[in-house]
Amino acid sequence: MIGLHPLPLLLGALILGPVLIEFPAPQDPIQEVEAEEGPHDRWLARLVDDGRPTKLDDLSGLTCAGCHQTITEEWRHSTHATAWIDPHYKKALKKIRRKRGCTGCHAPVPLLGKPPTKIPDTRTENPHLGVTCTTCHLAADGETMLGPAGHANDGHPSEANELFNHLESNALCITCHNVNIGPVLAVAKDFKASDQASMGDSCVGCHMPSINRAWANDEISGEPGTSRAGRSHRLETSRDPAFLRGAMNLRAEFNETGAVLVVTNLTGHRVPGLIGRELTLRFSLYNAKGQRLSSSSHTFSHRSHLPVEADFKIDLEGLGAAELRVSGTHKAPGIPKGIVFLERTFNR
Ligand code: HEC
Ligand code: HEC
Ligand code: HEC
Ligand code: HEC
Ligand code: HEC
Repeated sequence: MIGLHPLPLLLGALILGPVLIEFPAPQDPIQEVEAEEGPHDRWLARLVDDGRPTKLDDLSGLTCAGCHQTITEEWRHSTHATAWIDPHYKKALKKIRRKRGCTGCHAPVPLLGKPPTKIPDTRTENPHLGVTCTTCHLAADGETMLGPAGHANDGHPSEANELFNHLESNALCITCHNVNIGPVLAVAKDFKASDQASMGDSCVGCHMPSINRAWANDEISGEPGTSRAGRSHRLETSRDPAFLRGAMNLRAEFNETGAVLVVTNLTGHRVPGLIGRELTLRFSLYNAKGQRLSSSSHTFSHRSHLPVEADFKIDLEGLGAAELRVSGTHKAPGIPKGIVFLERTFNR
């Protein structure tokens, strides 16, 4: 059955930023992530509260933060920053005897411009910084920063490296997202097996949105430097209902016996990509008089995922159907009750 969710008054208060985001039917677990000024307004109040901290509070040991304040602010709200302190990870780790098999991706040593062919070693210094700046950016000489441009600057030597140019950057992300371990599924394997890269899609393209802001701030005054095109380090995530809604396209075709719903995967990999996550679509068919003819549902989970680059067809029975209503609920570790991320109505 499709529940109709009354719009709470809160919704008005949620839409604050210059970019209007269409919110899904509201649910309690959507939390208001702290208010910010600037290009990140669109992240306001979008995340689902799944028991994780909204940001990494303890930045001690992060030398980059002094001059890269804006990027640090983005990054500290990502699960890369909270990878070590993540309560879900800590809980899972308790049950593991050989913990060293787990810690290398959650507090990795610098990759030094060469994506390793095995799981990275564990960093002993400041593991609380999780997947940190130097993991991705430090060069093998221990002082040069690898980046997309290699601009000369007062902070440190910089060098352009192909891992930071759009398509090659896939190799950087694949490093840690290519293994089935714990609850994690190897989404990068799907990506590599697909035609996504040749079509110009990339992990960064979908998960680190384009943004115009300073790459560095003045160390003393904190004033932002020259504004340049870059990529937000605040990862787009499936805990954001609006982003999750973009994971699939729905198309309904009515026929004699009811309708066929075609679900197309719009991501670069299977959906979902984590054990314990479930996306349930609920369907109701109505006739022209508004009477309900039938109800059914389909769940995508790690056991029956939506494959990459695939259309998934679901037959819906209902003689004389004129209208199809679909709602999608997302369950994940920390959100056992689920949250509605999608509602659509199709008419014959
Ligand atoms: C090869 C790198 C790698 C290793 C090794 C690794 N993880 Fe992870 N872990 C990841 C990635 C990548 C994610 C994010 C997956 C996602 O969000 O879909 C993650 C996320 C998690 C999460 C968070 C799930 C959630 O609720 O969001 C848990 C729990 C976890 N890992 C446990 C473990 C355990 C336990 C081990 C050891 C058995 C382990 N990890 C080893 C890469 C790794
Ligand atoms: C003393 C100030 C300072 C510190 C500390 C600092 N940076 Fe920078 N960094 C800069 C400046 C200035 C730029 C140039 C920004 C620009 O091009 O607009 C820069 C540029 C970069 C770039 C881009 C390189 C390119 O392609 O042009 C990267 C990546 C980078 N820094 C990473 C880091 C990391 C990681 C740390 C910490 C280990 C760090 N920086 C610490 C000042 C600093
Ligand atoms: C050194 C290992 C490592 C590298 C390199 C890495 N990741 Fe991750 N990534 C992780 C871990 C670990 C997590 C999960 C942390 C957790 O939930 O505890 C994660 C989580 C994520 C998530 C899930 C975010 C969420 O909130 O659900 C996305 C998306 C992601 N990474 C994208 C990327 C992209 C894009 C790149 C390449 C630019 C990349 N990763 C490179 C280890 C890595
Ligand atoms: C998971 C890997 C990863 C981590 C962790 C990471 N970066 Fe980046 N960073 C990237 C990638 C990939 C790009 C380039 C994206 C592109 O342009 O395609 C980038 C770009 C940059 C740039 C160039 C400006 C821009 O916005 O594109 C700077 C400066 C930078 N990073 C600094 C940092 C700092 C400081 C931290 C820590 C607070 C950090 N990075 C953490 C992967 C990472
Ligand atoms: C065409 C856009 C697109 C591309 C390319 C893409 N992703 Fe995703 N990704 C998404 C969307 C949308 C979601 C949300 C759907 C979901 O969580 O099931 C997602 C979810 C994820 C998650 C969370 C999975 C889970 O179930 O917890 C991780 C981790 C991730 N992507 C990593 C990557 C990595 C690494 C790459 C490159 C190898 C990549 N993505 C390429 C769009 C994309």
